[in-house]
Formats: sequence, structure tokens, C-alpha cells
Amino acid sequence: MKKVLVTGGAGYIGSHTVVELFNHGFIPVIVDNFSNSDERVLQGLEDILGFKPILYRSDCADYQSLKDVFQAETPDAVIHFAAFKAVGESTQQPTRYYRNNIDSLLTVLELMEEFQVRDIVFSSSCTVYGQPDELPVSETSKQKDATSPYGYTKQVCERILMDACVARPELRCVLLRYFNPIGAHPSGLIGELPFGIPNNLVPYIAQTAAGIREKLVIHGNDYQTADGTCIRDYIHVCDLAMAHVRALEWIDLQTCACEAFNLGQGQGNSVKEVIDTFISVNNVPVRFEIGPRRTGDVEQVWADATKAQRVLNWKTEKSLAAALQDTWRWQQHLSK
Ligand code: UFG
Repeated sequence: MKKVLVTGGAGYIGSHTVVELFNHGFIPVIVDNFSNSDERVLQGLEDILGFKPILYRSDCADYQSLKDVFQAETPDAVIHFAAFKAVGESTQQPTRYYRNNIDSLLTVLELMEEFQVRDIVFSSSCTVYGQPDELPVSETSKQKDATSPYGYTKQVCERILMDACVARPELRCVLLRYFNPIGAHPSGLIGELPFGIPNNLVPYIAQTAAGIREKLVIHGNDYQTADGTCIRDYIHVCDLAMAHVRALEWIDLQTCACEAFNLGQGQGNSVKEVIDTFISVNNVPVRFEIGPRRTGDVEQVWADATKAQRVLNWKTEKSLAAALQDTWRWQQHLSK
């Protein structure tokens, strides 16, 4: 059984990936400094798995503490999630974002070399495309300037990994470019736990339905789309987690690799469609009003995800409706 170091494994996508790794015969080892994760996720993981996963409370930008983990666990592969991810916050605190997101990857790569670990799956984002010229966005679409320091850290980290693969041809690397992850584990025991006021649409809808927020503000309804609201490619977090398993299985068959894959449904939904679907599948009211556009928002973006299907044998299985039902189950679990 392969042991996989999962940095940021107590986070939103990390925790769901830990479950899928277990379900598919891998041994995940979580490394997380809990800077943006919550202890409640650990209980949820234990309830789903039936035991406590291996966990190190370490900062993976801290060379010595991550070295201790490599020494103790001698992993076969790394999935690197650990990073700050709030677009708006990154514009306020660029130094903190560059320091954390780039340092942690560099530390992981240095230790992978020291301990002769060949395989890495990197948590990237469709933000690397900036405002795309063409839709759907494919892996070969031109990458525009990043629209935030967060986005730039993802572009830089991808570049670091590509350069590392040139210098060390034995490395096997997969860059997974997520579109908009939503939803929660169908058990309702783990899900997204935004600290403070959520920035993202679906957690905001869920908290409004639960009465934690008074009303949702739709950021603009004067875009050039059918209903005037922005369009995104929403992907269920469990589908996303499965893609990490497929990526590990795929790189194991390669002699060397550095490949990027888009992970999305391959179709877009508008903000209004997401709200309407949430209301209808969960049969709960959500108060909303129209506000001004949000600075930096792209009008519409969705993925060409055919490469992941062709090469990794992966595609999404779960619908928007299922994701929004799972979100609501998780929100209700939190309110208990
Ligand atoms: N939205 C609202 N009201 C809200 C929150 C969001 O109308 O209260 C709208 C946004 O304006 C946007 C859509 O819902 O049109 C989706 O917004 P999110 O914040 O959920 O997601 P983004 O597409 O802005 O951001 C996501 C990821 C980022 C990543 C980015 C790349 O969360 O990490 O895609 O484009 F960088």
C-alpha cells in the first residue's frame, strides 16, 4: 500500500481526498498546521473512516518539522494542498501569500529530493488562466496575467514544478487545475468550514438558508449571460477528490511526467441557477438581492475537461443538484 503525504489534509478538498485515498487502497498521512482548518473535520474523518487517520500538526513551510514527518513516514508520494486561498485577502496581504504558498512548495520539493520521493500532485486552480479569451478553457489555452497575488502564487508554483521536472527527470508531477469546488461528503460529516464571512457563493447560500446570514448579495446581474449573472463550472468536491486518486494511479505508470489537467464538469451554471437549484432541491428559502459587480470577477468560465477523461480516465459523476443537497446536509450537521 502506498503512503501519501497530504499537506493541508485537514482542509476542505484535502479532507475529502483523504477519504477517497483510503477507499482506494492508499495510506494518507495528513500534515496540517490548522491555519485554515477546523478540528471538527478530524471528528468527521474519524466517523467516516472508523479510525483516526495519521496526522501531524506541522507547518509544511517549516523545513525541520516537515523533515521529521518525511523521516518518520517515508512517503511514496505527496499531494500538496497546503496554501492560503482567499483571492480578496491575497490582495491585502500579498507578502504573506507569496511567503506561505511558495515557501511551502519549495520545502516539499527540497525534502522530496532529499528523501528520493518522485511523485507529486499539486493543487492548482483555473485562476492560472486569468480572464480567458476562449471558452471552454483547455490546458493549452493561453495563460493571461493572474488577477490576484493568490492566482500568481499558483502560476509561480506550477512553473517551479515544471522547472523541477526538467532538472530532475525522475520526478512525476501532476498539476490539477480546479474549477469551482462545491458540495460536501454525502454523509454530511465533512465539508467546507469557512472562517468568518464566506467569500464563496455556495457557503454563503448555505449560511443564508441556515439563518446565519441575513441575505445573499448577487454580485451583478448585468453581465452578457442569459440571466445576467456570472457563469462558473461547479464541481462536486468528492469528484475532485477522486481525480487525485486517478492522478496518483496514472503517474505510477509513467517514467517521467509533468502534466496539467483541468478538473470541471465541462459546463457552466449561472449564479442565479445555483441559487434556484439550492432552493428547489432542498426546499428551503434563501433571501437574496442584486448588488453591484465584485471587482476582479471573470464574467464566465468553464472547463474543457476532456484531457482528464482521456488520460486519467476521470470525469465528474455528481450533479450540481447533488452537490447542493450535500452542502445543505453538511450545513445542518454544523448547526446541530
Ligand atoms: N458570488 C455572489 N455572491 C456572493 C459570493 C459570490 O454573487 O456572496 C458570485 C461571484 O460574483 C461569482 C460566483 O458567485 O460570480 C462565484 O464566486 P466564488 O467566490 O464562489 O468563486 P470564484 O469563481 O470567484 O473563485 C473561484 C475560487 C478561487 C479561484 C477562482 C478562479 O474560489 O479560489 O475561482 O477563478 F481563484
